[in-house]
Amino acid sequence: MHSTARGPSLGGCRFWAYADARAAMRDALRLSEGMTWKSAVAGLPLGGGKGVIMSHPGEALSAARRRDALLDFGDTVALLGGSYVTAEDVGTSTADMTTIAERTPHVAGLAAADGGSGDPSPFTALGVLCSIEAALEQHTGSPRLGGRSVALIGLGHVGLPLARALTAAGAEVLVADIDPARQADAAALGARWVRAEEAMTAQVDVLCPCALGGILDHESVPALQAPIVAGAANNQLASAEVAGLLTARGVLWAPDFVANAGGIINIAAEFEPQGYDPDRAAARVREIGTTMRMILADAAAAGVTPLAAAMALARRRVAEGARATSS
Ligand SMILES: NC(=O)c1ccc[n+]([C@@H]2O[C@H](COP(=O)([O-])OP(=O)(O)OC[C@H]3O[C@@H](n4cnc5c(N)ncnc54)[C@H](O)[C@@H]3O)[C@@H](O)[C@H]2O)c1
Repeated sequence: MHSTARGPSLGGCRFWAYADARAAMRDALRLSEGMTWKSAVAGLPLGGGKGVIMSHPGEALSAARRRDALLDFGDTVALLGGSYVTAEDVGTSTADMTTIAERTPHVAGLAAADGGSGDPSPFTALGVLCSIEAALEQHTGSPRLGGRSVALIGLGHVGLPLARALTAAGAEVLVADIDPARQADAAALGARWVRAEEAMTAQVDVLCPCALGGILDHESVPALQAPIVAGAANNQLASAEVAGLLTARGVLWAPDFVANAGGIINIAAEFEPQGYDPDRAAARVREIGTTMRMILADAAAAGVTPLAAAMALARRRVAEGARATSS
């Protein structure tokens, strides 16, 4: 748990192979801090936490041992008495969350059939769409998607509904994915299929990374042709100083942890007093557009990077939460 200043710390449970316990711990701490800033900037009454279940490289877990690990994890979450709420993440599934819920009620994002908010990906896609519009408005004066071009990398759970929404809004979409099976989805959308390297340097209005993180670095940024980068992928910057490199090159970067908060905003809607309602959740996700506009405008006015402006807002909101809990 990194912070409970704004509310219970919420973050997914990662089931992953690590070289040693120290690497697993470091990952949990790094990811939990990221959740603090993501939820704070989204204005959610949540703190930042993350769970890690460590397996060993090359270790094949039997179904029974995997179940035991999940139940042990559930017992651990129960011991924290609600100050940490777990959810799905890399290496865990909705079915795994149902198993963990046998031991603790502090599980969010269960399947809709089990009373949860279900798959967050379409909500994440909606938040990224609003972020792209906000970045277009900041850069060109108009949020309009019609007639714009977008190169989207990663046609997965988030990328596919996002590409669908972009084409529906009249944008020309280029798509890249390492999985050739995705080509059929791209064709069905009328999107042009390109290689990932081509997408990275395409002359488009927006580059939209929706696969893995770390794709913006000292090599890729100088080669970018798109004036805007806005996508769902987590941790797009290889390091924080790449934010300065993007700004110096005149590329407007929509901070990833602001743009991709739609999933957590949807999960947070489970905690609303009236219970979960998908329409209300979608309305809250659309507010990402307002937050992104504010961050990009603040950054431009103060002459700082969008990352610095987003972090300043996140830190302000955590401090407000801490003051409210102590008073
Ligand atoms: N699912 C969510 O609600 C959510 C929320 C917040 C952030 N994110 C982030 O958004 C990104 C996408 O998430 P997702 O749930 O859609 O994942 P996903 O696994 O469903 O989709 C990722 C897609 O990217 C492709 N891909 C992987 N490596 C690639 C590469 N090097 N080049 C091109 N394509 C590549 C995969 O084949 C896959 O189709 C991730 O970084 C994730 O952490 C997702």
